[in-house]
Amino acid sequence: MLSKDTIAQLQEASLPDGLSLLAKLYPGEIAFSCSLGQEDQVITDAICRQQLNIRIFTLDTGRLFSETYELIERTTARYKRKMEIYFPAPEDVEPFVKENGINSFYESVENRKACCHIRKVKPLNRALAGAKIWITGLRAGQSDNRKDMPVIEWDEVRQLYKYNPLISWTGEEVNEYIHQHHVPYNPLHDKGFLSIGCAPCTRAVEPGEDERAGRWWWEQSQKECGLHQS
Ligand code: ADX
Ligand code: SF4
Repeated sequence: MLSKDTIAQLQEASLPDGLSLLAKLYPGEIAFSCSLGQEDQVITDAICRQQLNIRIFTLDTGRLFSETYELIERTTARYKRKMEIYFPAPEDVEPFVKENGINSFYESVENRKACCHIRKVKPLNRALAGAKIWITGLRAGQSDNRKDMPVIEWDEVRQLYKYNPLISWTGEEVNEYIHQHHVPYNPLHDKGFLSIGCAPCTRAVEPGEDERAGRWWWEQSQKECGLHQS
């Protein structure tokens, strides 16, 4: 368990200091879920700069943009560091697609959530098995659902601490870091894609639109896939 002191330190720490504090406490037992979005690219940069013993993994749903796959290649080349890639289980995907069709997520929220569960949530749980700390790139400004999330919290379901070091960063601060440190980023961000997920479920947003308005845009739902909601 993290001590009260450590929790207090993490609440105040800069991104590099918070990451290195945890890496010293739990070497090899920390896992960072990296979607290759701009926030996550900042965290990857901070981990790699300090060569911290933190696992970096991505969930390849099988439906990502080709720009995202290219970014995986550019990022691993830039930092000379491998990324673990987790795929959905064929025994989950194949019967689901056979029964419902390849793009059934457009037909109902139920189908969409089932697809996210199979392609994202289950592989996430596999990737986090045995980890003591889970690092994410969540930001409070991304949505109402995220606005009260803390820097560090106990995840009762997964029995680990979830560390959200960028929770209080603004989008501008993320962009500044990216440009200042020449961090590789997804070119779709320059084409109005603020939040990037799977290709069939993400569109660009218009100026002034909510930053997650392009995710599952046809739904009136809370626009979450289950990774960050139990
Ligand atoms: S989502 O729940 O709507 O998909 P979002 O794209 O905003 O999430 O990303 C929030 C955080 O969830 C990321 O910073 C990352 O930690 C994690 N995440 C989301 N998608 C992936 C993915 N494909 N692979 C790894 N981590 C992911
Ligand atoms: Fe399936 Fe779309 Fe969820 Fe990706 S975002 S897992 S394609 S429903």
